[in-house]
Amino acid sequence: MSAIKNTEFLARTKLVTGSGSVKFLADELKKDNYRKILIITDKGIAGSGILDNIQAILKPLDIETEIYDDVKPNPSVTATDGAYETYKDNQIEALIAVGGGSVIDFAKALSVLLANGGSIADYFGFDLYEDTPTPLFAIPTTVGTGSEGGHAGVITVDNEALKTKKLFFGEDLFPKVAFLDGDLLTGMPGALVASTGMDALTHAIEGYVSKNGSVITDALNLHAVRVIGTAILEAYSNTDNEEAMNNMVQASTSTGIGMANGGLGLVHGISHAIGAQYDAPHGIVNAILLPYVLEYNWVANPHKFAQIAEALRVNTWGLSVEDAAKAGVQRVRELTRETGIPEKLSAIGVQEDKIDVLTDIAFADELYMAPNPRKVTREDIYNILKEAIN
Ligand SMILES: [Fe+2]
Repeated sequence: MSAIKNTEFLARTKLVTGSGSVKFLADELKKDNYRKILIITDKGIAGSGILDNIQAILKPLDIETEIYDDVKPNPSVTATDGAYETYKDNQIEALIAVGGGSVIDFAKALSVLLANGGSIADYFGFDLYEDTPTPLFAIPTTVGTGSEGGHAGVITVDNEALKTKKLFFGEDLFPKVAFLDGDLLTGMPGALVASTGMDALTHAIEGYVSKNGSVITDALNLHAVRVIGTAILEAYSNTDNEEAMNNMVQASTSTGIGMANGGLGLVHGISHAIGAQYDAPHGIVNAILLPYVLEYNWVANPHKFAQIAEALRVNTWGLSVEDAAKAGVQRVRELTRETGIPEKLSAIGVQEDKIDVLTDIAFADELYMAPNPRKVTREDIYNILKEAIN
């Protein structure tokens, strides 16, 4: 008898896609007659010319605009609560997030706080706010977050003794509109394509083998594996390749909708522990961990891992399902090398003296342990970390 689960599927963000699509931001904003908006971004984007482009689009609209450009990677409770204090009396009617996952998640946190007050720590969990969050428009400038298509935000808890990452979810937290503009993404650093693109591949693979997936999330995730497997190399090696950037950002958003509905797994469980403890870049940590975790996970679902191998264009002709699954893991390992990602966590400063605390944080994170295809023990996580660190 097959196990048929009951699941919900939510996808509420309007996606405007293709090169130049960001110009439609004006039309979308006009529909709701906003009088005052806040742009959320980081210093890198603020200095890159992308922000000038957005401001030129907004100029004819006669909307009062403020800019917050101080989002840091792995945004914290202190940072989001601080921004709320700054803007709470400013009558902000909508937010525009221009950036990667940190920026979009930060903006989601602010959208909850502007409507409900308090601290973002009050909202860790599902649908814990009373009032509908302030509308959010998302313009991703990386190719990996997926947050533009989902209803979750990740925030580092920096005000407790143990630094961890926690998530808040809400059915109204899907951005209202996301603009997936490959032209806007051209010229980004190749290393950023690599780290954020490997994050997207991690979402796609973890989502595809998640125990909470469905036929619908499988479709969103497996095709994303197929697209990213090729486009990541094209985009990484030539960041002017507009078509590759469009493919990457659409595949990344596809997995974002997938993970909003089917969850992720052990890579994200461990990487959130590392991200919180070391303030380490999310995409790179995932990319390093991915082959180690897949090597551990494939035995739990060889058929699906064999399909991942095929999606990555591994020649599986004549191979057993098990050998095909292993060949897929090997292909992922090669992809990390081909995109210039280090093979060990020690290369980004992770050290063995924190292995116990990292293991404990990851093992306690039910959000990621539960959907993982292989039933995880504390010892398994410890061993994976030991292998991946040095
Ligand atoms: Fe991720």
